[in-house]
Amino acid sequence: MNLQSQITAATAPYIPGFANHFATEAVPGALPIGRNSPQKPPFGLYAEQLSGTAFTAPRHENRRSWLYRLRPSAEHPAYVRYHGATRFAPGTVDAPLPPNRLRWDPIADSPAGTDLIDGITTMLANRDPADLEGVAVHMYATDRDMEARAFVNADGEMIFIPQQGRLELLTEMGRIEIAPGQIALIPRGVRFRALLPDGSARGYIAENHGAMFRLPELGPIGANGLANPRDFETPVAWFEDRDEPFELVQKYLGSLWTTTLDHSPLDVVAWHGNLAPCRYDLSRFNTMNTVSFDHPDPSIFTVLTSPSDVPGRANADFVIFPPRWMVAEDTFRPPWFHRNVMSEAMGLIAGAYDAKAEGFRPGGLSLHNMMSGHGPDVASWRGASEVELKPHKIDGTMAFMVESCWPYRLTAHAVDHAQPDYDACWQGFPKARIA
Ligand SMILES: [Fe+2]
Repeated sequence: MNLQSQITAATAPYIPGFANHFATEAVPGALPIGRNSPQKPPFGLYAEQLSGTAFTAPRHENRRSWLYRLRPSAEHPAYVRYHGATRFAPGTVDAPLPPNRLRWDPIADSPAGTDLIDGITTMLANRDPADLEGVAVHMYATDRDMEARAFVNADGEMIFIPQQGRLELLTEMGRIEIAPGQIALIPRGVRFRALLPDGSARGYIAENHGAMFRLPELGPIGANGLANPRDFETPVAWFEDRDEPFELVQKYLGSLWTTTLDHSPLDVVAWHGNLAPCRYDLSRFNTMNTVSFDHPDPSIFTVLTSPSDVPGRANADFVIFPPRWMVAEDTFRPPWFHRNVMSEAMGLIAGAYDAKAEGFRPGGLSLHNMMSGHGPDVASWRGASEVELKPHKIDGTMAFMVESCWPYRLTAHAVDHAQPDYDACWQGFPKARIA
């Protein structure tokens, strides 16, 4: 990319592509050409590398960006513990984990005047962030802009999954707006604050402590399909020049910390590299499904995957259940009964999920941990077993799953707020009769 194309790109709000080597500048001439760290960067900016992988990661895995900012991010006082968010990252309950299936209604509204940081409720988590593996599932309910507050997560990257209301995420590397049906992926270590264009917002966050999310292999599907790379959108460089007290809250090794700067940390004037936030519209997912018989394994719906060290076994898969045609012949079409060595956390953005007749509400959450038997409830099973099979479109719905090889543990809030009767949805199946 030459300088002219960089400047052209800077006039558009987003650049297409997933983990491309992007180059963007909010002020013409701010991005050094031909070297990363010149003796005197343009305008006296400070050059800083943000590494998402080890320096020595293989080239095809290596993720890093160079940021050119008004002040170095090293300029901050010591952090002290932050106690403002009472339900964010409290740790999980240290007790034997029951092998129970669980489900939750949407979380309650936060008290009026709660911003995103304080409006996050951690529900599920596995592994210690210091292991550099595992994933956590949070839910948020917020009604206040983060005004002079920013957040940074040293523990992992975060997928924001809005369920109600838009989020405008002002990040170090550009501005991202997402509405329900879209997601945003914020890399580990990228500072941001969240504004609420609709005045309030609710949704989910999948926090990945492990290998960075990437597009899944496509195997026999071929070169195209599922989430196509060009549909991911990375924002162009943007910065704010605000010399005023600014609180910076950091999640670090499972605890929250705070410090106060005398300026906004969102002061990156230009950047280049392949580590950057992005957004994705789930309606652009090119859904694959059977055109003959049987329900495929839900891995066919994987948007992004974080591999573990075991081939084919994901640290975390982000999977969606989008609108799609169901045409399978002689087939029980909803997700089948199963027991899975992987652990499944599911959320519902809108509509109804085809394996549950009721009880799984938009904004709710369910958990089917390792080897827990689950599948359609009685009503869904009966309906799908007896319906005349014709081409049918599942529409007006969007569910998602964060599937992990590590069984999820529960926070105290999750223990206290689980639906008391989830098991009942699998009560009352008629016994099969051997003739
Ligand atoms: Fe499942």
